[in-house]
Amino acid sequence: MSIEAKSPQARIESLLACMTVEEKVGQLGMFADMVRPFAPDVNPDANVRNAAEVLEQVRAGRVGALFNGVGAALGREIQRVAVEESRLGIPVLLAADVIHGMRTVFPIPLGEAASFEPDLARRTARATAIEATAAGLHWTFAPAVDVARDQRWGRGAEGAGEDVFLGCAFAAARVRGFQGDDLRAHDSLLATPKHFAAYGAVAAGMDYNYVEISDGTLRDVHLAPFKAAFDAGALTVMTAFNDINGVPASANRMLLTDVLRGQWRFPGLVVSDYTADMELVAHGYAADDRDATLRAFSAGMDMSMQSGFYAAHLPALVASGEVPMAALDEAVRRVLWVKEAIGLLDDPYRSLDPVREADASLPAAHEALAREAAQRSIVLLRNEGELLPLRRDARIALVGPFARDRDNIEGCWTLFGDKSRYVTLEAGLRAALADGAALEVVDGCALEAPLAGGIEAAVAAARGADVVLLAVGEPQRYSGEAQSRTRIVLPPAQQALAEAVAATGTPVVVLLRNGRALALEGAVRDAPAILVTWFLGSQTGHAVADVVFGGCSPSGRLPVSFPHDSGQQPLFYNHPRTGRPETPEMSEFKARWREYPNAALYPFGHGLGYGRIEYGATRVDAAELAWDGRLVVRAQVSNTGARAAEEVVQLYLHDRVGSRVRPVRELKGFHKIALQPGQTREVAFELDRGLLAFTRADGSHDAEPGLFDVWIAPSSAAGEPAQFRLLAPPHQPA
Ligand code: NOJ
Repeated sequence: MSIEAKSPQARIESLLACMTVEEKVGQLGMFADMVRPFAPDVNPDANVRNAAEVLEQVRAGRVGALFNGVGAALGREIQRVAVEESRLGIPVLLAADVIHGMRTVFPIPLGEAASFEPDLARRTARATAIEATAAGLHWTFAPAVDVARDQRWGRGAEGAGEDVFLGCAFAAARVRGFQGDDLRAHDSLLATPKHFAAYGAVAAGMDYNYVEISDGTLRDVHLAPFKAAFDAGALTVMTAFNDINGVPASANRMLLTDVLRGQWRFPGLVVSDYTADMELVAHGYAADDRDATLRAFSAGMDMSMQSGFYAAHLPALVASGEVPMAALDEAVRRVLWVKEAIGLLDDPYRSLDPVREADASLPAAHEALAREAAQRSIVLLRNEGELLPLRRDARIALVGPFARDRDNIEGCWTLFGDKSRYVTLEAGLRAALADGAALEVVDGCALEAPLAGGIEAAVAAARGADVVLLAVGEPQRYSGEAQSRTRIVLPPAQQALAEAVAATGTPVVVLLRNGRALALEGAVRDAPAILVTWFLGSQTGHAVADVVFGGCSPSGRLPVSFPHDSGQQPLFYNHPRTGRPETPEMSEFKARWREYPNAALYPFGHGLGYGRIEYGATRVDAAELAWDGRLVVRAQVSNTGARAAEEVVQLYLHDRVGSRVRPVRELKGFHKIALQPGQTREVAFELDRGLLAFTRADGSHDAEPGLFDVWIAPSSAAGEPAQFRLLAPPHQPA
């Protein structure tokens, strides 16, 4: 049957009217295509589909979407079977985890958040969409918008860090980038904010663990970036694996129906995470597979990923009346509506163009952007004696297991990167040096183990050099899904290497590779210069060389706080106030650890450039902000150094008294500005009540009148605040 040209609604309704229950349920099933799933324990044999089976299922109208198989030719064949050989001819959505690049790999999202440039994330997401749609995809499972306040959790690498305001800005930018201006364009890629919700709040930072959370924190911290993503146009959302206060997110009616549909009027499609409906049984929230299906579907999950539970149990649940036909129709409508919205019902072969796929100029055109994004994601933590930038004629020893490594460049969740184009540290540094041979390169140790003679060779190289570039950090597989850590430190073999190299007395610049904030120790912590280089993607070596030799000034700022010690986790700057703060006036009965200060070693927002930046006082244009008024806050920012730099000027607020205990500070604005040597610029932020709003004790969302502190500062731990008072609405006493 052909899909006639009618209005979108009429077309969807006429399709729906012709569908059997099995065909309807088919639209709600998503399976990994063509690739034998890699982990048998979470992929019962019954759910494994080989190529022939997938096509058979498509032909039978039993598949709404497929994921993680790519290629225009494969996609065309699937679509041909769907359109020409299935009874209703409904095309299949082709999805994949394309998280931070396709062939060209951009920095891990956490690293890119360090740029404090949402528009950079929009541009890299756009480039990613162009490459992904050229490989035949319609839909990506990104962005991850989980707020990660505990650095033990490995999936913080996929998001934008510990802050809500920054997280919202990046969530929106990434959605805009993936989807572009026109959803029907062949290079528009559907975005999926995930994991709904509070996945970043898993207890003890252990992936898949439980979440106990207040309603206020859930709403103000963890739900906010999803709302920002929907406001930016996201049409799909993925549920989380964790439970929230005892109810699994994937069967959570409060989240999937009351908040999403009721409060936010989200019209789009809710897809489960991988077998999350099946896992309701392991959670002990469902008695058996049928019960799990009923609970997930009834809570508001439209599409089931990989378990096959909907196909197996929904028809019987509809027949028994436990699932009303109207509810099934509504879920199918949403799937068809998304297909309609991206133009798939008009052009089933959308984004399936082998010529475009073979066009090597597409990824090649993104190399400059990958280099720029990587440069701008690097954070300079420390630069004693202005050791950086290095002179190009210095004798340099590049030491460490990441020096020539090609396997730890891309970072977690990169399934399709073109490894042949990855630039190692060694290659990037050699390319930047007139005489690349003047660079001595020594591994010193393996990622997690000593190498015979490694330390001796590293020490000899350090002794013969003016400066050591020490490339140490976490192996790539320490971050990402299921990669939780208790001690967020370097592997011991690397720490031993660092100690030996530092003992030579040759100045050390640490090039840290990491997918989370780390607790730096010993010679790494005490090195005179430290660059946080995350996992920077394809252009790693060139971008690091650009910063090391001063081709550009580092302009990244920490999106996560670096602790003194792992035991401080969860450590995040915007924590609620305690009744016994760690102030000098307090006796020993105060909130404190015996071993370490409460503060971070390097706080959220921290980062240096090659200029010397000074801030003038924060000034408010008026002492009072009317309930519906606006207030401008300003400060002068100067570069008194000898080099050009970029500064991330940050606005923080603190509500002195609240009906719920308020955070000590909260980011509410930022501007990245360029400053020439000797230049001063005034930076202004406009405030209104919306920025002061939170979930109040009575559950309503608004500001509360009273006194506020406001900082314009270079980090979450710097600066002196000014004050203003938010006046009560005219009809209400203060
Ligand atoms: C599980 C992960 O939690 C999710 O982020 C990913 O999109 C799916 N698997 C699909 O691969």
